[in-house]
Amino acid sequence: MLPMFVAEGLDGARPVASLPGVSQHGVASAVAVAEEAVEVGLGGVILFGIPAEKDAVGSAGWDPDGPVPAALRAIRAAVGDRLVLWADVCQCEYTDHGHCGPVLADGEVDNDAAVEGYVRDAVAYAEAGADLVAPSGMMDGQVAALRRGLDQAGQQTVGIVAYAAKFASGFYGPFREAAGSALVGGDRAGHQLPSGNARAAAVELALDAEEGADALMVKPALAYLDIVAAARRAHDLPIAAYHVSGEYAMVAAAHERGWLDGPEVLEESVRSIRRAGADVVLTYAAMDLARSGRS
Ligand code: PBG
Repeated sequence: MLPMFVAEGLDGARPVASLPGVSQHGVASAVAVAEEAVEVGLGGVILFGIPAEKDAVGSAGWDPDGPVPAALRAIRAAVGDRLVLWADVCQCEYTDHGHCGPVLADGEVDNDAAVEGYVRDAVAYAEAGADLVAPSGMMDGQVAALRRGLDQAGQQTVGIVAYAAKFASGFYGPFREAAGSALVGGDRAGHQLPSGNARAAAVELALDAEEGADALMVKPALAYLDIVAAARRAHDLPIAAYHVSGEYAMVAAAHERGWLDGPEVLEESVRSIRRAGADVVLTYAAMDLARSGRS
């Protein structure tokens, strides 16, 4: 799966400096990438949106004319069912403070208000043509709430990929530039998992499976292959692993300096993630690997 950034009002593509080879896309450019993804045989794409305007609650996230619904409709019209379309669901790209939902007076994210926003986002993305929605905010109860909200909106066939084991990680650094979601204050340590705690990940995976997830995701991937392997052993649901921005950017930067062979290392990375037990790998290298027959 290829992660893609779609920016409202952008004409063409704008390269992301921290992720060589990755761009933000306007609608037409996103469609061209999706068509290429079909051609090279990718499994699918996951969309992240960058809105023109942000506010304290992230209301641009559920705007039916926002960047993700607009891209979903155009891509679906162009490729039909030849590509699986996922939509990331979180408010951090849509709030002006960069948190994953509205913030309480003490600076913590308001869990239940955030989840209400995610449900509105998910319904908007489902109605625009997403096959699966992927809640990444790590709020308690988000999977159950999305399942209920989607069903009530008549979207029973839209699935949920739970970012179940999502660790608080320095590897997300370059993503913040790509998605324009830098935090203005605070951190995500209160709701993302501590990197040293494998059992907390096991608990989160089990909860999301119980709440009705159709697939479980581990993120980041390479520094957490033990978690991928444990998830594979404990669950029969499809396991996805997200080879995140920092994991990709490190290789791209070393490649640029001539210190290693980027494509070779990226192929080896994806193979390792699959060997650990992932059925689905999300990586910024997806298009290049598929195009060159590496995987
Ligand atoms: C949150 C989200 C993040 C990533 C995917 N979804 C950022 C975060 O949690 O801070 C990171 C992905 C990457 O680094 O490639 N919407």
